Amino acid sequence: MAEVVIVPDAAHAGVLVADEIMHLITRRPDAVLGVATGSTPLPVYEALRERVRDLDVSRLRAFALDEYVGIDPDHPESYRNVIRREVVEPLGFDPARVRVPSGALDGIETAGDAYEAAIAAAGGIDLQILGIGTDGHIGFNEPGSSFASRTRVKTLTQQTREDNARFFDSIDDVPEHCITQGLGTILAARHLVLLAIGEGKAEAVAGAVEGPVTASVPGSAIQLHPHVTVVVDEAAASAL
Ligand code: GLP
Repeated sequence: MAEVVIVPDAAHAGVLVADEIMHLITRRPDAVLGVATGSTPLPVYEALRERVRDLDVSRLRAFALDEYVGIDPDHPESYRNVIRREVVEPLGFDPARVRVPSGALDGIETAGDAYEAAIAAAGGIDLQILGIGTDGHIGFNEPGSSFASRTRVKTLTQQTREDNARFFDSIDDVPEHCITQGLGTILAARHLVLLAIGEGKAEAVAGAVEGPVTASVPGSAIQLHPHVTVVVDEAAASAL
């Protein structure tokens, strides 16, 4: 059973997870972090900012969960740019040691395998930060994703495109495909930390934490992992 920690608000969630990351990286300056996009993890990166100020982070590595396929790499909402803006630059990580799956159409057939190989070469992910979609997706593993899946191209659901339309001019600008670490990739990380804030996530959180383990709720895959921390506010915990 996952350890569920209920915090008063998003800022407290950020501090809690940032402290967990500090605990890891002060022991292991060459740790491998799994970083996530979406709005939920932003307070984590914010809380980390002051904490890493006096730390040598030059040996840390990081891997992002996912990317839109076919998005202009210069688009401010490409996950490559989001990770650069929210993680790499403010935290002073070495950009050469932070990877995001390539969503470039050219070479997309081999991008998933290349990403898996890079994670393996780094020795696997020590701590994976996860958000959760309202339909229960983690990374971009939509309902129906195999628990054994590895990094690959997927089609986004209408729900996810609607949820993410707020980052684009209109829903028509939200890409239809993505490349995402698979559920199998995520489960291979040594520690999973799932964050969720707000009532809109309550059902997804309940399904992930205590619903049946089913491909219909990709987040429920976390129940198969021996070391999971779920950090939620009261609202996101309200259906537990
Ligand atoms: C996107 C990301 C997911 C994230 C989800 C929730 O779909 N690919 O990794 O968990 O959004 O986003 P938010 O935290 O903004 O609600």
